[in-house]
Amino acid sequence: MKVIVVTGASSGIGLSIAQFLCQKGHSVYGISRTKIHEKNIKSIQADVTDFEQLKNAYQEIYEVEGHIDVLINNAGMGISGTIEDTSFEDASYLFNVNFMGVFNSTKAVLPFMRQSGGGKILNISSVASKLSIPFQAFYSSSKAAINSFSEALANEVAPFKIQVCAVMPGDIRTGFTKNRKKNESDHPDYKNRVDLSVTVMEKDEINGMDPLSAAKVVNRLVRIKRIPLYKTIGFKYKVIVLLAKLLPAKFANNIVGSIYAFKKGK
Ligand SMILES: NC(=O)c1ccc[n+]([C@@H]2O[C@H](COP(=O)([O-])OP(=O)(O)OC[C@H]3O[C@@H](n4cnc5c(N)ncnc54)[C@H](OP(=O)(O)O)[C@@H]3O)[C@@H](O)[C@H]2O)c1
Repeated sequence: MKVIVVTGASSGIGLSIAQFLCQKGHSVYGISRTKIHEKNIKSIQADVTDFEQLKNAYQEIYEVEGHIDVLINNAGMGISGTIEDTSFEDASYLFNVNFMGVFNSTKAVLPFMRQSGGGKILNISSVASKLSIPFQAFYSSSKAAINSFSEALANEVAPFKIQVCAVMPGDIRTGFTKNRKKNESDHPDYKNRVDLSVTVMEKDEINGMDPLSAAKVVNRLVRIKRIPLYKTIGFKYKVIVLLAKLLPAKFANNIVGSIYAFKKGK
């Protein structure tokens, strides 16, 4: 039985991970701003943008359990729209939640994980970290930052037997699509392409994988002794990530553009 913390456990991927890990017999704590009304998941209300709230939460868990074994930094949100039309406040807020939230949570858990004698930190990134999606620049950048952060972190904490993995899911059916903040662009130079791109993206998400597929992958990462630095979720997305690595960057980026932003006749 492991003590596991999942941020963003009130819905979607985080909820599915928390439920699945509970079923496997682990002691699971779910962190989110709203209360989680799920049997067996111990709900702690905290905002990942607030370091003190997370520090208090992890202190409380450590005092009750005596150890914290796994942290899954999953809380996140999205905004869409052009870079030109995105306000500084919106971009900052997204980075505060998606990236500084991972930093806050990691920084807050590390003293307890070191005292526990080791552990695992799984940061939920995205395939968009490897192939940046047009009109989702800030989301894609925040996920690329998580990857870079995870690489540095892995080397910093290796001597403490703490392992790190950036988990990159492909499209998954969750409330994420509905929760995305859409920055509309009425600008004639952009409007059609933004609308088309967001439509393609939303269609992919709505027809995406079941969140359970992410829960199963995470459960395996919790179970195995040595975890990889990167783990992509979904066969199709593994191929896409591999191609992104092999193809010249400009060529790969043009393909993404043709999928999302430059369809013929638009
Ligand atoms: N769905 C996909 O296709 C997909 C693909 C790749 C990666 N991801 C990533 O997977 C993660 C989960 O997304 P999801 O699809 O499950 O979306 P979701 O259903 O919208 O869930 C987002 C979760 O994050 C929590 N959250 C948001 N802001 C928070 C904050 N400031 N403090 C604490 N918790 C906060 C929400 O809880 P409260 O609102 O209750 O606080 C909720 O539990 C995200 O990091 C997302 O980027 C999703």
